[in-house]
Amino acid sequence: MIISDSAKKQIDIWIEKYPQGKQSSAVMEALKLVQAENDNQLTSEAIQAVADYLDMPGIAAAEVATFYENYNHKPVGKHIIRFCHNISCMLNGADDLITHLETKLGVKTGEVTKDGLISVKKVECLGACVGAPMFQIDDQYYEHLTADKIDDIVDGLK
Ligand code: FES
Repeated sequence: MIISDSAKKQIDIWIEKYPQGKQSSAVMEALKLVQAENDNQLTSEAIQAVADYLDMPGIAAAEVATFYENYNHKPVGKHIIRFCHNISCMLNGADDLITHLETKLGVKTGEVTKDGLISVKKVECLGACVGAPMFQIDDQYYEHLTADKIDDIVDGLK
């Protein structure tokens, strides 16, 4: 697994933000950049390549990559819907809306639609509780969701 020159340049910018010798602090952004270049997924080889580039133990990079929800370890769709099911969203109907979304797309959470367009994940609080129930698609938040609103948003992805 080789990290592209473009990704290395971006990673180097992050490394410079930390004190000398603390380059491993750039691991989250490095993983994100490498994931973006590899079909939005991190293989164990990709994680090790990041660890090698940052001169840190592979297991330490793997711990980060497997702790956070934003890293993918199996194939995902072009768009990823991260549906919050934490307390505020749950109390405002997230469970029923997740079921609605699963039915609409014909997938369960953790799966990818047959056309490879959309993955659905259930995630913990995304810090937008005031807009509950909410989900994130790629880098965009959608709040105060209803079944009709979800239909419009998802139809707009096709
Ligand atoms: Fe859903 Fe916080 S509980 S954004």
